[in-house]
Amino acid sequence: MKVPFVDLKAQYDEIKHEVDAAIGGVVAQSAFIGGRYVEDFEGEFARFCGCQHTVGVSSGTSALHLALIALGVAPGDEVITVANTFMATAEAITHAGARAVLVDMNPDTFCVDVSKIEAAITPRTKAIIPVHLFGQMADMDPILEIAKKHSLVVVEDAAQAQGAEYKGRRAGSYGDATGFSFYPAKNLGAYGDAGAVVTDDKAVADKVRLYANHGRRSATDHAVEGFNARLDAIQAAVLSAKLPHLETWNRRRREAADRYDRMLAGLNVITPRRAPDAKHIFHLYVIRVKDRDRVKQKLADRGVACGLHYPIPVHLLDAYKYLSKPEGSYPATEAAAREILSLPMYAEITEEQQRYVADCIAEATGTA
Ligand SMILES: Cc1ncc(COP(=O)(O)O)c(C=O)c1O
Repeated sequence: MKVPFVDLKAQYDEIKHEVDAAIGGVVAQSAFIGGRYVEDFEGEFARFCGCQHTVGVSSGTSALHLALIALGVAPGDEVITVANTFMATAEAITHAGARAVLVDMNPDTFCVDVSKIEAAITPRTKAIIPVHLFGQMADMDPILEIAKKHSLVVVEDAAQAQGAEYKGRRAGSYGDATGFSFYPAKNLGAYGDAGAVVTDDKAVADKVRLYANHGRRSATDHAVEGFNARLDAIQAAVLSAKLPHLETWNRRRREAADRYDRMLAGLNVITPRRAPDAKHIFHLYVIRVKDRDRVKQKLADRGVACGLHYPIPVHLLDAYKYLSKPEGSYPATEAAAREILSLPMYAEITEEQQRYVADCIAEATGTA
């Protein structure tokens, strides 16, 4: 049997007519940039998140970058985020001219260890970016409390968390602004790069819109130098076609995660923990296992494709050598990086495929 890591074709097969019609509509009207399809999606996604405004942008990285500058983050500032994240979180901080200040993760949730945030605050600190990693939201209440106490803004990195909840409210409804990615493999994925900023603050939404479109005030007038970071209409139409399915897909991912939990119980692996206040949407199902690289290879040999998120923590990437954070700086993140293994996970995965994955893990870990 072959089990892919993600199966975008299986999803397309289920919704082919809706997606084809959506793309065909954009093409028939040559409405490629801006216009109704983008506006419609922005309204739908704002409602989904329980927020006032959504501004579609070209990627999750642009979403975080533009959210930071719209909130006033500027050169000389520091922005706190978690060491265990995709490097784009740190990149967005640098693009805004600020310096990324990393904090270790909580080994229970893989999200920021909130008890370590205050020690990282300096007079230059302007913002905190909690990352809702793997589809589980960070512990937002203490983060918001710390931000309030120190007059910091909060930008949620919800790239992996479309529809995830914390205390009954969705990702995007907690921060001053939130960046979402719609990279194709995300729970809500476009057919190319796409992203969005979500916020309740109209002034922030207006600024993001301005910066994402060359600082354009009207067709020929530009208020500031901006970027070309717009969401294109084909992606917006695909996202509108998919959004009504997202809750079902997230439920099926949660059910698949429950099945993995049962199938892997008793094996020499640690399965993901669910924080009591969070509703995990399992963008990724990440186990911890000793001798990870050998296990991953054994699974690959048996046709099971796994991922690694993230085997080299941000501070140990060559790109971030300048942060001068040597090995040992973030022990929980570094320990996880050696052991994590992302198993095949998508809404369409079958019980039979999961059984096969679990059997292969049992064999590879010597507990068959
Ligand atoms: C945690 C996190 N932040 C930011 C991003 C950046 O999103 P994008 O790839 O759409 O630029 C990603 C995407 O992969 C991500 O996983």
